[in-house]
Amino acid sequence: MEEKTPLLITGSSGLIGSKFAQVYANKYELETLDISDPVQPIDITDEQAVFSFFEKSSAQACVHLAAFTDVTVAWEQRGDTNGLVYKINVIGTKVLSRAASTFGKHLILVSTAYVFDGKKDSLYTENDSVNPIEWYGQTKAYSEDVITAADHPWTIARIDQPFRSDPFAKLDVAHKFAQKITEGTAKLFDNHYFGPTFIDDFVRVLDFLIQSKTTGIYHATSGEKWSDYDFGVALQKALELSGTIERSDLVAYQKQQVRPYQTNTALSIEKLKNILPFEQKSIVEALGLVDSPLLNIFVVAT
Ligand SMILES: NC(=O)c1ccc[n+]([C@@H]2O[C@H](COP(=O)([O-])OP(=O)(O)OC[C@H]3O[C@@H](n4cnc5c(N)ncnc54)[C@H](OP(=O)(O)O)[C@@H]3O)[C@@H](O)[C@H]2O)c1
Repeated sequence: MEEKTPLLITGSSGLIGSKFAQVYANKYELETLDISDPVQPIDITDEQAVFSFFEKSSAQACVHLAAFTDVTVAWEQRGDTNGLVYKINVIGTKVLSRAASTFGKHLILVSTAYVFDGKKDSLYTENDSVNPIEWYGQTKAYSEDVITAADHPWTIARIDQPFRSDPFAKLDVAHKFAQKITEGTAKLFDNHYFGPTFIDDFVRVLDFLIQSKTTGIYHATSGEKWSDYDFGVALQKALELSGTIERSDLVAYQKQQVRPYQTNTALSIEKLKNILPFEQKSIVEALGLVDSPLLNIFVVAT
């Protein structure tokens, strides 16, 4: 058997990190900086702990997935640079970047389409200016600033609304919609657009970025633009779900809501496509691989 490659990783217990760990269990020896690790918990905002972890590592790269990802809760902390959202997303990234610089590692930050304001009709490219409209997106934009100013090799991979084939404790957009549809009537926006990211493919993109030592900013979604309504209809068809889907209106919803929503966060992946040695699945193909909600309930409950 081939020797595994050591790899530093944060957020390995999360939605995306756990899929990466699952797919590459035989390829990478993961050195996890994980706050809830029962044996060796590491808080990425703890500079001393992170530095001594990096010092002992022979890994050439660190995949940085850890983040405060609840956008609605984050909005309650807007402007608060002492709050947890800022601390994890910005200070945590600063600490990792300083460690990467000191110990000569390639740092790969997973970022979000929420760094954009969502006002563009067409797909956002890497050349578009960031202009976040809520606090989660703002703190991720700050974390990107940390990375782009760094003197170590770096990569930023932006994604949007990720979903995986198998169920996970934190429901992704596909499993959330599937649950809503099977529960009865799902109301889904037909004027809110996003760029779904199939996590099973995205972890392969991460592997490629690590192996190829590619640096720079890359959009790494499916490259497609979907409305919530169309995504729900395609999902219902793929999983043969019973239940009905009704159209709803983001503009009307926005009037009752406290936090702002981006209207369109779909990303262009032309830059990535030029270097990626494999083709990602289309969203229709990916939806065909999503487990049915009945199976999800069974797996989550056991
Ligand atoms: N999910 C999305 O919709 C989405 C969309 C675009 C971009 N992204 C980006 O993709 C990345 C991964 O997202 P995800 O959905 O997989 O995240 P997730 O499921 O919310 O997991 C976040 C991870 O961060 C860890 N963490 C939080 N605070 C920490 C700290 N102080 N020290 C060390 N670890 C800490 C968590 O550990 P515990 O579980 O142990 O607390 C968890 O493993 C994030 O950078 C996110 O911004 C996500």
